[in-house]
Amino acid sequence: MASLPASTPGSRSSSRRPSIDPSRLVPMDRTSHIGGSDDFNVVFVGAGNIMFGSPEGPWNHSFRLEHKLGPRLKVVALIDPAIERAAAVLQKKCDSFVVSAYQDTRIFKSFEDFMQQMSEKDRPRAVIVGSPPMFRGATTPGRDIEMQIMKHLPGVAMFIEKPIATGPEHEIPEGFKIGKMISEAKTICSVGYMLRYLKAVQMMKQVIDENNLTVMSTIARYACAYESIAKPEWWDKSKSAGPVIEQGTHFCDLSRYFGGEVDISSVQAHSLEWYENAGRLSKMAIDEEKIAPENRIPRVTAATWKYDSGAVGTFTHVVALQGHNYSCEFEVHADGYSLKLVNPYVLPVLYIRKPGDDNETTTRFADDDPFFSEISNFVDLIEDIEEDPESSTILSSYEDAVKTYEFTWAIRRASEKSLEAKAKASKEAADVAKNA
Ligand SMILES: NC(=O)c1ccc[n+]([C@@H]2O[C@H](COP(=O)([O-])OP(=O)(O)OC[C@H]3O[C@@H](n4cnc5c(N)ncnc54)[C@H](O)[C@@H]3O)[C@@H](O)[C@H]2O)c1
Repeated sequence: MASLPASTPGSRSSSRRPSIDPSRLVPMDRTSHIGGSDDFNVVFVGAGNIMFGSPEGPWNHSFRLEHKLGPRLKVVALIDPAIERAAAVLQKKCDSFVVSAYQDTRIFKSFEDFMQQMSEKDRPRAVIVGSPPMFRGATTPGRDIEMQIMKHLPGVAMFIEKPIATGPEHEIPEGFKIGKMISEAKTICSVGYMLRYLKAVQMMKQVIDENNLTVMSTIARYACAYESIAKPEWWDKSKSAGPVIEQGTHFCDLSRYFGGEVDISSVQAHSLEWYENAGRLSKMAIDEEKIAPENRIPRVTAATWKYDSGAVGTFTHVVALQGHNYSCEFEVHADGYSLKLVNPYVLPVLYIRKPGDDNETTTRFADDDPFFSEISNFVDLIEDIEEDPESSTILSSYEDAVKTYEFTWAIRRASEKSLEAKAKASKEAADVAKNA
């Protein structure tokens, strides 16, 4: 009989990463803004949807920062090469009751321009980076905003949106290099994997911790409503790097949050491509003909992998739903337990089955706001006001987010390899038939 390998050291603890007591995750309308009276200077990089909101979803960092910081918020700079867009969002703010945060905001085309003109009184305490990922996460000029911030504003906290980059696969080591620099400099840095801050997710963590469970399997399914995705770049792999890296990344990240480190060499995947019969879509909001055929995105990507702990993960990303709302589910299985998170974007519901009862308990989280919780934790950490260090925790560090990025690239690459293998086999079969 073959001997069983010893369990991986640390595998039990792999599901016990930093977490927050779910009772501490309070929506905006049930908190008051942070205390103190001094200005809290902030720089925004990017004047787009994530920063100022859009009908596509509930994201809007400026809104959460306004509530968290109250009259202390001073947005000293808004950096965006699209000056007109920046001016338009700024005007809206100045026409509203939050004018005090924006009346002195200056618009800059680039971070370099801001640094050249920054006066000492404008020195920010935090830089919120919501530019497109193709302009960050690398070490080349123009795409190295994180390194520029660390160089010119050492010690200033950074909030960086997900995914950390969408550059070519061979640049992943640059992401790790940036992550190392950030942690060595002890810079406060949070990456926008806000699903980790969902109350339901933290409740799942609590069940795992309290019962000392070892995760056996994670099962993730992410079905987006493609009809409402109107950004041409999203549909273009040369810009977004594809839907797993750009969007499915949230669920790949959650998988890692619960399952621990992924054995990257074990990742296998298949995809349904746009040119296959089953991959035809009838309600796309963009003209796909304008995108080069080799850059068009897959409609379905399905992956499996092993975690270092031995646990097994699966993920399916689907571009098939119409309408507006996404349909996403994430399950974690452990001995005697299943934890199922449904609809995390719209109305999170958590189904828990425990030993001793075949029925699931259902918990609904009607007024949870993970976007506020991630910003709130980030600000608390900068202010260093918490007497209880457990309550302000960054759940997604840059270094960790690079691992999610690497993982999503591995899924994309594995699906492309399967396609290549299939094409090769078909060609060989055709050659055999021809020569028969
Ligand atoms: N966590 C979430 O749920 C969530 C939701 C939406 C977007 N996002 C992420 O936020 C990021 C931005 O997405 P978005 O929807 O706001 O995009 P967007 O296109 O609406 O806005 C991006 C803005 O950045 C500007 N920009 C381009 N290059 C720049 C540069 N070098 N420096 C500064 N600004 C630059 C653009 O002109 C644009 O105004 C993406 O990484 C996206 O994945 C995350």
